[in-house]
Amino acid sequence: MKLAIYPGSFDPVTNGHIEIISRASKLFDKLIVLVSVNMFKPASFTIEERKELLEETVAHEGFTNVEVDSFDGLLIDYFNRRKADVIVRGLRAITDFEYEFQMAQTNRRLCYKAETIFLASKTEYTYLSSSMVKQIATFGGDISDFVPEYILDRIVKRLKK
Ligand code: PNS
Repeated sequence: MKLAIYPGSFDPVTNGHIEIISRASKLFDKLIVLVSVNMFKPASFTIEERKELLEETVAHEGFTNVEVDSFDGLLIDYFNRRKADVIVRGLRAITDFEYEFQMAQTNRRLCYKAETIFLASKTEYTYLSSSMVKQIATFGGDISDFVPEYILDRIVKRLKK
């Protein structure tokens, strides 16, 4: 059984993340979407809130082989504990590459078995990021094109100033 982990801040989950979850879940027997801590990015949603939004997304989209979990530690420790095979990350643009390459190399240095596979984002999501969604929602803009309707209200209420 091939087990993949898709880690990220998911602060909050966007349509771009959902597209990657959908495609990755078809490539592996099981996919764990892991809410992780990025020390370099201040989060707006708590880990628990981010996990809840993802759980609702997974249930709503009917992803039957996808589990949502969170981990407040090193990704590679979680990877080893779950005996995973692959780390999945989405690549939106060339600007993502250096950061992603560094993470992949570091994780592989920490554990030689940790392969990272990149899925190229769908063109319509290459511009989309959680940070942009947060900025737009905070100032009362319309984010309905960027997050699914079933969690839209919750995100808007939580972020509106
Ligand atoms: O969505 P993001 O913020 O780009 O995801 C980055 C994330 C959370 C996957 C990365 O910061 C991470 O793996 N954090 C867990 C701690 C860790 O293992 N850091 C070393 C990564 S090389």
